Amino acid sequence: MNAAAENFNPAIEAEDLRLTFAAADGPVRALDDVSLTVGKGDFVSFIGPSGCGKTTFLRCVAALERPTGGRLSVNGMTPDEARRERAYGYVFQSAALYPWRTIGRNVSLPLEIMGFSKAERSERVARVLELVELSGFEGRYPWQLSGGMRQRASIARALAFDADILLMDEPFGALDEIVRDHLNDQLLELWTRTGKTICFVTHSIPEAVYLSTRIVVMSPRPGRITDVIANPLPHPRPLGVRDTPEFLEVARRVRAGLRAGRDSDSADGDDGPPPADPSIRDRGVDGE
Ligand SMILES: Nc1ncnc2c1ncn2[C@@H]1O[C@H](COP(=O)(O)OP(=O)(O)OP(=O)(O)O)[C@@H](O)[C@H]1O
Ligand SMILES: [Mg+2]
Repeated sequence: MNAAAENFNPAIEAEDLRLTFAAADGPVRALDDVSLTVGKGDFVSFIGPSGCGKTTFLRCVAALERPTGGRLSVNGMTPDEARRERAYGYVFQSAALYPWRTIGRNVSLPLEIMGFSKAERSERVARVLELVELSGFEGRYPWQLSGGMRQRASIARALAFDADILLMDEPFGALDEIVRDHLNDQLLELWTRTGKTICFVTHSIPEAVYLSTRIVVMSPRPGRITDVIANPLPHPRPLGVRDTPEFLEVARRVRAGLRAGRDSDSADGDDGPPPADPSIRDRGVDGE
């Protein structure tokens, strides 16, 4: 998406956003001065060490947390208004499906709550299950599906009410590399087909580079944005793009951003340089 369109038509706008949690052992600055514009149709990944505020940022957008400072708008509304308008679907890290409901009835749950008619519900459920390639599995229970299929079902549930923003918090973090590759490929195809705005949290550098139009690099203590990298890789992106020099160059910039965040964190000087974050997945980039 070009910069002019993005400025004209932002899906999410954060300005000097802050959130300090009042924990028992003192305040935790989970987000500090976070300013970011996510344009409509952008695919933005958030990467950074554990505890840097990625989930907190998504939860603020979804009106599940209340910022303690700054401004935040979602489709030009306050997060609370956007929530009432069902402006977004939220995909949690674990699939969070009800085991006693079939896949079809899990996906239709938000539609039931919103009062859609039975006919409308079944039409929508069939459509989104087809989008995530789960047609024919409506009648199965979550425990009869593989982990990757359950994640796809939870994506279908987030898509069911056709919100134009998708908030995805490490949706593929628990899956093996092969399943993850396949779901990355499918997600990119879904994004291309639907033009949705996606905010995607990940710990994987290759995943962030493969999927995104922009990559937001964050650092902890307090949670800040240290770099926003525009991804110059063209679409379509076959999985093989990950072996190209252009891809490796973007990955290198993400890694440098993560390192800079770590160094500035230690320069703030509370308890010495933190170790490399073991949760950041760099495999396939260094060829380790
Ligand atoms: N409800 C809460 N009360 C107090 N502190 C909290 C609360 N929720 C989050 N935090 C703190 O805020 C910081 C940011 O947490 P957050 O969950 O956003 O991190 P994250 O970047 O998503 O980490 P991870 O990669 O491990 O999921 C952490 O230090 C965390 O301990
Ligand atoms: Mg998190």
